[in-house]
Amino acid sequence: MTKPLNSKLEEQYPELYAQVGEIVSKWGASRDNLIAVLLDVQSKSERNYLSKEAMLAVSEIMGIIVQDVYEVATFYHAISTKPRGRFLVQLCQGTSCTVNKVVNVKDALEAELGIKIGNSTPDELFTFEYTPCFGACDVSPAMRLNGKVVGNLTPETIKQIIGECREAAKNE
Ligand code: FES
Repeated sequence: MTKPLNSKLEEQYPELYAQVGEIVSKWGASRDNLIAVLLDVQSKSERNYLSKEAMLAVSEIMGIIVQDVYEVATFYHAISTKPRGRFLVQLCQGTSCTVNKVVNVKDALEAELGIKIGNSTPDELFTFEYTPCFGACDVSPAMRLNGKVVGNLTPETIKQIIGECREAAKNE
């Protein structure tokens, strides 16, 4: 690890810096592990995204220039540099899901959430977006909910799943 001495960032954001440090230690500071590190840092963020400070900390701790970190973060579909909802709903738009009428699921999600795909709900509880195929074609149409695969979706199951998320948020 190439953490500089007396990092200003570490002084300003000690918790974030320590968390990123732990993640880099786990994966190793090699550039080959940058995507894994960024995904891991993102997964620890309450809003499912990589903040500017988190990217700076990754850059500093891994010894990779910040432009390179930013480029990877903005290129890679699974990483967001904008805050997302507490629940990240990623609907597959791959061939198998399309053939199995994912459009009906999309319509049901838009109706249930009251937003169009590509947006977040005003209460910041849900972000709804498309994702490429993630290999769950045998249970298509499928989505990932905070990274967990949920398949064989129908408009009815959508109602139930979103209801459970709202309930879970109320009880937090
Ligand atoms: S096509 Fe949707 S998971 Fe593969």
